[in-house]
Amino acid sequence: MKETRRVAVLAGDGIGPEVMREALRVLDAAEKCYGFRTERMEYDVGGAAIDACGRALPEQTLRGCEAADAILFGSVGGPKWDSLPLDERPERGALLPLRRHFDLFANLRPGVCLPELIAASPLKENLITGGFDILCVRELTGGMYFGQPKFYGERDGEIIGLDTLIYRRSEVERIAHLAFRAAAGRRGKLCSVDKANVLSSSVMWRDVFNEIASQYPQVQLSHMYVDNAAMQLVRNPGQFDVIVTENTFGDILTDEMAMVCGSLGMLPSASLCSRGEKTFGLYEPSGGSAPDIAGKGIANPIAQILSMGMMLRYSFGYIEPADAVDAAVRAAIAAGFRTRDLATGAVGEQIVTTSGMGDAVISLLH
Ligand code: IPM
Ligand code: MN
Repeated sequence: MKETRRVAVLAGDGIGPEVMREALRVLDAAEKCYGFRTERMEYDVGGAAIDACGRALPEQTLRGCEAADAILFGSVGGPKWDSLPLDERPERGALLPLRRHFDLFANLRPGVCLPELIAASPLKENLITGGFDILCVRELTGGMYFGQPKFYGERDGEIIGLDTLIYRRSEVERIAHLAFRAAAGRRGKLCSVDKANVLSSSVMWRDVFNEIASQYPQVQLSHMYVDNAAMQLVRNPGQFDVIVTENTFGDILTDEMAMVCGSLGMLPSASLCSRGEKTFGLYEPSGGSAPDIAGKGIANPIAQILSMGMMLRYSFGYIEPADAVDAAVRAAIAAGFRTRDLATGAVGEQIVTTSGMGDAVISLLH
């Protein structure tokens, strides 16, 4: 029997708890099937934590995450907490501090459009025949999200809002190495997305990528401006293998990428840093807490299930179980199971609830 791995479970707000439930059921099934064990500790986070104890990221939650081998995260935020000061809101008060605290600088977001879901994509079918498979590597602890100073208030007799877009070379170097290695393990194409025709930070970013490229002769590096990348993603997503980009650009482009895959509910993510030999990570769906559909049993749990699979793969090194989770999700889609967000009305589709999709994945896991 392999050693027991500790998972901090932070379900959060909105659809978080209901999709988390399905991911944990699939994890149970994978444990039975493959003979490994996890110990799960649940902690409050986000709006749920604000309601329970007045803070989006309670001390106990942070300590619990520190003691764990990985964090499985649902989603945070909702209209109920939107009127709080920015720093106290679930997003800035919980998720960003977690990313920062654990130095989770590399955010992997795989955008895979399965052939069966081509019709669910808002793109015309002739643009995506055969589906596509993109990995977006988003820098997650630098750039405009964290750059100082930040300020909202009066200066020189006028109200201003200020954010700072700053990158240190070392921050760009580490994400570059990770992205080159990811591309080397896939189809060998790396597209670095920046705004080097306007931003100094992007010029530096581009210089670093060009320098490091010589260490990875097996990878073909290209550069693209972010506005063009946004266009290319809806024009011809199949041209991309690995995309690497700074924090804010990555935030925007990955929502777009998720949508062209068919639904935001399909996109998992892994936010990683290395801890000695091991990879520590926070695993969460790329989409948000979707308060409009929370509690109705219609949310798509696949992004959460696939995020759990990424945890098995990256933090625990359980490759076979991780492959099995991915395969079970593909099989459920191939068999016609669809949550509402994926429905197109085609023959053979069976509309299922959140737990119905969990059941389908579990029944196809082996
Ligand atoms: C994401 C989310 C977060 C981000 C929010 C909730 C802070 O949109 O993970 O993409 O902007 O990074
Ligand atoms: Mn986002």
